[in-house]
Amino acid sequence: MSTPSILILPGDGIGPEVMAEVRKIIDWFRANRALAFDVGEDLVGGAAYDAHGVPLADATMEKAQEVDAVLLGAVGGPKYDELDFQLKPERGLLRLRKEMDLFANLRPAQCFDALAEFSSLKADVVGGLDIMIVRELTSGVYFGEPRGIVKEGNERVGINTQRYTESEIARVARSAFELARKRSGQVCSMEKANVMESGVLWREVVTEVHAAEYSDVELSHMYADAGAMQLTRWPKQFDVIVTDNLFGDLLSDLAAMLTGSLGMLPSASLGAQMENGRPKALYEPVHGSAPDIAGQGKANPIACILSFAMALRYSFDKGDEATRLEQAAEAVLADGLRTPDLMGPEGGSPVSTSEMGDAVIAKLSASL
Ligand code: IPM
Ligand code: MG
Repeated sequence: MSTPSILILPGDGIGPEVMAEVRKIIDWFRANRALAFDVGEDLVGGAAYDAHGVPLADATMEKAQEVDAVLLGAVGGPKYDELDFQLKPERGLLRLRKEMDLFANLRPAQCFDALAEFSSLKADVVGGLDIMIVRELTSGVYFGEPRGIVKEGNERVGINTQRYTESEIARVARSAFELARKRSGQVCSMEKANVMESGVLWREVVTEVHAAEYSDVELSHMYADAGAMQLTRWPKQFDVIVTDNLFGDLLSDLAAMLTGSLGMLPSASLGAQMENGRPKALYEPVHGSAPDIAGQGKANPIACILSFAMALRYSFDKGDEATRLEQAAEAVLADGLRTPDLMGPEGGSPVSTSEMGDAVIAKLSASL
């Protein structure tokens, strides 16, 4: 079998710094676990715009289609705020998601014990929290037509369209049910069936797929606004949440903050199976490019490192090695190592991005 391939797209802001730590981890697995990857690197977002005048070059798009997994750092920054809408760094990421057809976005929100005190909620509300948001990623109001800003009489009108086909709903529902079977067997589906027809259809299709294929899983439904409220009230009532593109964008930021730091959370965006049996896949931290701290060694590399752990699990069928890496990250936190984003008001002496990466590697080595 040929060596599995990875395309690294570090992107903008803190993307390159956190990705440098992932590179070290990849090297560690090659040297110590006989896990070799064919690693390529290219540009995305503002970095691609600076080099090529577009946020994602066609050649990069082609490479992304060919590899077994894409690892992305972050895109965006104030430097690009004035750019034409189609040239903004975010469009590069959205093009990757759409053209690779990465319809299922897995966003775990897990509260590490060592960090429960950093949550804005009480430690007993978030301690031990472990939920998975499955966000539909290639349709809905992000991509629906018609869209644009048009002139109607004397004024401009901004238009976006929420649109879901049955098959789009069914396939992401299946992803959620499959995951639930490997977890605690519970799915909560969120939409606004009380005001939106797309929400009515969403609820119907999820219910049908459940009845036909997954009746062993426990299914509940919630309006997305009530879901947001319940997520802050008692998040541990949830296991897997499945929802659409826009609600998933909002709810996953909310869930991320429950865990204390956005700097900790990974994500996987998965599409259909390729010929080699692997899903099309892109892995990225949930955090953004954090331009205010870029280039200063202050960024927390753990979300990006844990995104690579998700790649080991979902693309390369190395669940054991993924767990090894996740445990190494958790052990480093338990030892009290903190990047600046994890410092409480009382302060302390934070470690740098690369010190954090090195500490994870030391724990990996200790695990052998
Ligand atoms: C996310 C981000 C993106 C989104 C942006 C950067 C396009 O907020 O991944 O959650 O809105 O999907
Ligand atoms: Mg978002």
